[in-house]
Amino acid sequence: MNPLLKVHEVSAGYGLGSVLDAMSLHVESGEVVAVVGANGAGKTTLLRTIAGLLTPTHGQIYFAGNTISGVPAHNIVGRGLALVAEGGRLFPFMSVRENLELGAFVVTSRVEKRRVIDEMMTLFPILASRSSQMAGSLSGGERQMCAIARALMSSPRLLMLDEPSAGLSPLMLDKVLDMLRAVVKSRNVSVLLVEQHVEDALEMANRAYVIERGCIVKTGTGSELLNDPDVQRAYLGL
Ligand SMILES: Nc1ncnc2c1ncn2[C@@H]1O[C@H](COP(=O)(O)OP(=O)(O)OP(=O)(O)O)[C@@H](O)[C@H]1O
Ligand SMILES: [Mg+2]
Repeated sequence: MNPLLKVHEVSAGYGLGSVLDAMSLHVESGEVVAVVGANGAGKTTLLRTIAGLLTPTHGQIYFAGNTISGVPAHNIVGRGLALVAEGGRLFPFMSVRENLELGAFVVTSRVEKRRVIDEMMTLFPILASRSSQMAGSLSGGERQMCAIARALMSSPRLLMLDEPSAGLSPLMLDKVLDMLRAVVKSRNVSVLLVEQHVEDALEMANRAYVIERGCIVKTGTGSELLNDPDVQRAYLGL
């Protein structure tokens, strides 16, 4: 069986400089995979490249058995791969409901669109009580939940999240991660998670990759990496 996502020797960057250097990784169906690494290691660049926002200069990306390198970003969403960008990137002057509606641009039937919105409001009750509030006035945690719900509107098979913890208190981060766990269970969605909260990410992940300067330097199960002395020293402050 092919993995759900396969990144094969991908290099990518901005202008002349290369950020990702022949990077290979995969996500199996049903897995939660974390990518951890220091600031500037290339985590966001990796997710943007998979999502089709950057074109690889070398290598191939396969999703559900088909190549997606060079496919426009909106078509990639239609194939079942959704990205929650750093900070959520909601439309601040639109309501929670309108933001969710935009997430469903691949759903053409109005009845179906309404059904998925209702489903999201049930999954994230906090959004139901704030459905007409401007997204810009949500709290950090509410904003993350709205961004995750918006990404789920396209019924993705793989949800990619870039630092869902950004700007959240530890308590709020726990809430968002709990919500994410529930989503993974109930909706049969796989996750590729980029996180600076390395301990939380490794606890949640089935497997993880450690990246440094655009290269994968270590991989293993979440618990293997949690117990790895190098990882502990570099990322867990132990
Ligand atoms: N739009 C851009 N143009 C030029 N260089 C960029 C651009 N975006 C990122 N970079 C550079 O690419 C490198 C990797 O950045 P990236 O955002 O992928 O790191 P990151 O691992 O997500 O870091 P962080 O943890 O701080 O979010 C950095 O050196 C950064 O300065
Ligand atoms: Mg980043």
